[in-house]
Amino acid sequence: MSKIILSGVVALIAASFAQPASAAPDWSKVPAKTITLLYPAQMSWETLLTQTEHSGASKFREGKGCRGCHEGEEQSSGKLLVGDKSIEPTPIKGKPGFITMNVKTAHDAERIYVQVAFNPGEQPDAGMDKDFATKVAVMFDDGGVAEAGRAGCWSTCHDNAAAMPSAGTKETQKYLARSRVAVTRKGGEEIKPASELDKMRAEGGFLEYWQARLKPGAPPVVVDGTILEKRSERAQPMAAAEASEAGGLWTVTFSRKLAAGALSKDFAAGKTYTLGFSVHAGHTDHRFHYVSLEKTLVLDAGKADFVAAQP
Ligand code: HEC
Repeated sequence: MSKIILSGVVALIAASFAQPASAAPDWSKVPAKTITLLYPAQMSWETLLTQTEHSGASKFREGKGCRGCHEGEEQSSGKLLVGDKSIEPTPIKGKPGFITMNVKTAHDAERIYVQVAFNPGEQPDAGMDKDFATKVAVMFDDGGVAEAGRAGCWSTCHDNAAAMPSAGTKETQKYLARSRVAVTRKGGEEIKPASELDKMRAEGGFLEYWQARLKPGAPPVVVDGTILEKRSERAQPMAAAEASEAGGLWTVTFSRKLAAGALSKDFAAGKTYTLGFSVHAGHTDHRFHYVSLEKTLVLDAGKADFVAAQP
């Protein structure tokens, strides 16, 4: 009898160790932070670095981050950019200039969780992405890409990318300037040799992204990958996402193993991560999205926009 109980206890202990403590966090106990995502129009990396086109250029070159000048201006900038023909040659009629998003983060022994909640509101149907009205993404770095720490998403947004002013005949996606032999006002065309790119990748000189493509009532379609010379999608996503929608409000929870292996960013305490968020709403594609300024994340404790704690 006692032996049976004992073996039961042993089994229980064994089971509790085997459980990777990866039950989803109790989100009601996690504080949310509200951020604003603005419509960036055709404001490319190269525009931003050109003093005659952007008065923040020289200070940015000297080391100041975008948010150092623009935090709190996201709504007014978005409203301006969404309809200003000088920077948005093909405005979408009736498109709001910004949206707000609540962000919560957490981690357990195994996984990092990023939960975003947003309501795209009244959005005209742009008809670009027929399959998905709404897509949400987070792009991040662990310090391996210095310019992403100061410019977030804009470190990947170049003048020769698709639907941008210097877009050529071939479709160019997001990339980092370091992957190009040279970058001019029109962006960089010629890609560095594979051996150099491999070295950069091995040193962490790439960004990672997760995206959830959303349809009410259906599980989200998750795509993820890395950005260096282009956006490289993983054949098998490392990130997972859950999503629900009620009255227009989307709640999407991304999660991934803290350490997911090669070509991913490990999440660990003591490091500061840069996050950029984006939302495509109203059946848009490419640059016709909303983006956040650069945000920071730490695990457990520290000074950052988001502190992912263990529940
Ligand atoms: C030193 C301060 C400073 C920094 C750093 C800076 N900017 Fe600006 N930015 C300005 C000023 C001032 C303007 C308005 C005048 C202009 O367009 O030149 C502006 C204009 C803009 C605009 C046009 C919309 C608007 O509100 O006028 C966008 C978009 C923008 N900046 C994005 C960025 C991004 C992205 C970064 C980081 C890569 C950045 N800025 C860095 C000062 C700065």
